Amino acid sequence: MGTKWKGKGIGSFKLGKTNKQTGAITSLRLIVRQLAIMTTISNCTASAIKDAASSLMAGNLVAFPTETVYGLGADACNEKAVARIYEVKGRPSAHPLIVHISSIEQLDKWAKDIPEYATKLATSFWPGPMTLILPRTDLAKDFITGGQDNVGIRVPAHTIALSLLREFESQGGYGLAAPSANRFGKVSPTNSKDVEDELGEYLSKEDKILDGGFSKIGIESTIINCTELRPMILRPGQITDEMVETILSINLEKSNSTISNIKSSGLLDAHYSPNAKVVLEGSPKPGDGLIALANFPTPVGVIRLASPKNEKEYAQMLYGAFRKADNKGIKVIRVVPPVARGLGKAIVNRLTKASYKQIS
Ligand code: TXA
Ligand code: MG
Repeated sequence: MGTKWKGKGIGSFKLGKTNKQTGAITSLRLIVRQLAIMTTISNCTASAIKDAASSLMAGNLVAFPTETVYGLGADACNEKAVARIYEVKGRPSAHPLIVHISSIEQLDKWAKDIPEYATKLATSFWPGPMTLILPRTDLAKDFITGGQDNVGIRVPAHTIALSLLREFESQGGYGLAAPSANRFGKVSPTNSKDVEDELGEYLSKEDKILDGGFSKIGIESTIINCTELRPMILRPGQITDEMVETILSINLEKSNSTISNIKSSGLLDAHYSPNAKVVLEGSPKPGDGLIALANFPTPVGVIRLASPKNEKEYAQMLYGAFRKADNKGIKVIRVVPPVARGLGKAIVNRLTKASYKQIS
């Protein structure tokens, strides 16, 4: 079986993965990386942000930090640029993308018939880790929405993301499509190095990665469907059911997202997966990785991957711990999930998807 290698700036070529070539392939991969090289910008000055925004206007990709996870950004009105997001991520094209905007003032450009409750959510939680699914305007084309009549919108709470969005809008842009900056179905990156590792070989030398340190939250935004009479949480996140219920003075229907007719790749049963098998039951055996709250002891021979003190730390550390396991070649990660309440609900959601069909 052949593996396709995308040489950045030097075209694509095929390599056989058989016999004793693994070492050679690894070295070649390193060379390819060195040749190709998108730019990672670690000092995001005003002029660096300006350059990044111009590059986005020109149709290139810019990965940028947000408070949840890193996003892979493209001009949401440029079909070719958006097509590259799908190519770089290896994501099926019918899956919709979230459009990021700099403030609620930009919302009317992308969404119409906005229910009062959605406006209340937006004014309460933006900028922040919440995506609203709303009826779309003509600006939101099929290549953004996966052909649906609605569009996902978010105002991120991260200085670099917001500066980039403001600059992009001041140069004439309307919004940035930005899925998490990982290959389809894989673990979202929470720092710029992880974006390089995940997508480096697929990005071109015109593309950029903006470094903004570690994502504060560590898991993706809460997604709320606002196309019906009442809101429905499609993907749990740091904005919890309880927070939504309190702000809107309602009780959310305890419905399962799978009955919604909304299309969303993060709603697939299997997602957010490391290469290692994630197992949520049983006790760890020697050689297994372990993720659990700090008060859970590490049995002899087990490799501790994370010891968060609370749920906030759990969310921050989770994807990094998955990556650590893969880098160490660990085959099984045993996870003791937190209680599925508040932020714990979002963590359990990601763990369940990461472990889907993997229980031994
Ligand atoms: O925190 C986040 O939301 C991050 C950062 C970068 O903003 N983004 C993110 O994007 O997680 P992505 O594409 O990896 O996950 C967004 C999920 C996907 O499952 C997508 O299918 C769904 O949101 N989605 C986007 N637009 C949608 C729409 N119009 N209707 C239904 N689902 C939508
Ligand atoms: Mg994603």
